[in-house]
Amino acid sequence: MTTTPTPGTTANAGRHAIMPKTMLAIVQDEYGPAGDVLGLEEVPVPVPGVDEVVVRVHAASIHVGDLVAIEGDPIIARFATGLRKPKTPVPGTDVAGTVVAVGETVTRLRIGDEVFGWCTGAFAEYASGAEDHFLPKPANLTFEQAAAVGVSATTALQLLRDRAVFGAEVLINGASGGLGSYAVQIAAAFGAEVTAVCGPGNVETVRSLGADHVIDYTKEDFTLGGQRYDFILDNVANHSLARTRSVLTERGVLQSNNGTSGGRLFGTLGTVIKTAVISKFTGRQAPPSIKFTNRQDLLVLKDLIEDGRVTPLVDLTFPLPQAADALAHVRSGHARGTVVITVLEPGTRP
Ligand SMILES: NC(=O)c1ccc[n+]([C@@H]2O[C@H](COP(=O)([O-])OP(=O)(O)OC[C@H]3O[C@@H](n4cnc5c(N)ncnc54)[C@H](OP(=O)(O)O)[C@@H]3O)[C@@H](O)[C@H]2O)c1
Repeated sequence: MTTTPTPGTTANAGRHAIMPKTMLAIVQDEYGPAGDVLGLEEVPVPVPGVDEVVVRVHAASIHVGDLVAIEGDPIIARFATGLRKPKTPVPGTDVAGTVVAVGETVTRLRIGDEVFGWCTGAFAEYASGAEDHFLPKPANLTFEQAAAVGVSATTALQLLRDRAVFGAEVLINGASGGLGSYAVQIAAAFGAEVTAVCGPGNVETVRSLGADHVIDYTKEDFTLGGQRYDFILDNVANHSLARTRSVLTERGVLQSNNGTSGGRLFGTLGTVIKTAVISKFTGRQAPPSIKFTNRQDLLVLKDLIEDGRVTPLVDLTFPLPQAADALAHVRSGHARGTVVITVLEPGTRP
């Protein structure tokens, strides 16, 4: 690996390894179903901004927000992602790879570092992001596992922190998906007594993640059982808010993390507004939790991962050209853990 710019390589203001000028990336020019709007194209390799790094992507993962950004659905989300068409033509945020270029003010990361975190345009051979958005990859994780941390794990951490305390009875509805599989592990790591609700095919998986009790939703309705919970994290919203709150302990709290009452225009915003209003009248309903990824939370997760208390659950992996199939699998709503896109080293592609 060299830091000397070489003829035929991308020039930038900082330092960089030998890099091609172009790369393969998943590109979208319009909103719609992944299978209709995503294509594999040759595009320029990104150049790092002064405080950014470029990574050679080994793996990227998919979270539900990626679907929103690609489909432009609910429509209100387009205020953030681009009104008429996606602002960012290459989708994907959660990533793991090797640093190949650094901007002028980058001090923590060096070329050759193996990292994980968040970037812009992760579904590509190279992607860029702020230095702050990356940490060294835990040595006990593969690139596929490290790419699977990102938004799902940090959201789970933020929703459970201060709630899934030692000895608390915690129920996770939707325990086997991208977010739920982290929620179970994080709540167990914090010392909570965890009840996980999932389908029949995932009972053993969530038990292995650390759930003390498992409810198969095809056999039992958790809102009709006698058990009471100090905290419920509801990733599914298949019961009314009032019915879900009915199985809380006296001081228990429901955190709603899903909802469809806003239709195609507003999506989960209907539930967000409803829970915001209800939370003003009762402490049993947590206010909506709008979360942003941040370095501090990624550091906490890195510690939990290196201690062996949290291990990313990787579902199926798909090569980059099959990104649309990967997104369709997430869209099915029955992923087991996190779906990952793997990216071959550019020189080795067929
Ligand atoms: N992932 C994120 O970063 C993120 C961030 C913020 C908010 N959220 C929200 O959190 C929710 C879950 O996200 P996710 O990434 O975990 O989704 P996901 O990966 O699609 O997982 C959905 C899970 O829900 C389970 N499920 C489906 N029907 C169920 C039912 N009736 N009862 C219990 N479980 C059921 C599925 O399990 P079976 O296959 O066993 O049915 C599946 O494991 C979504 O509403 C999403 O918008 C996610």
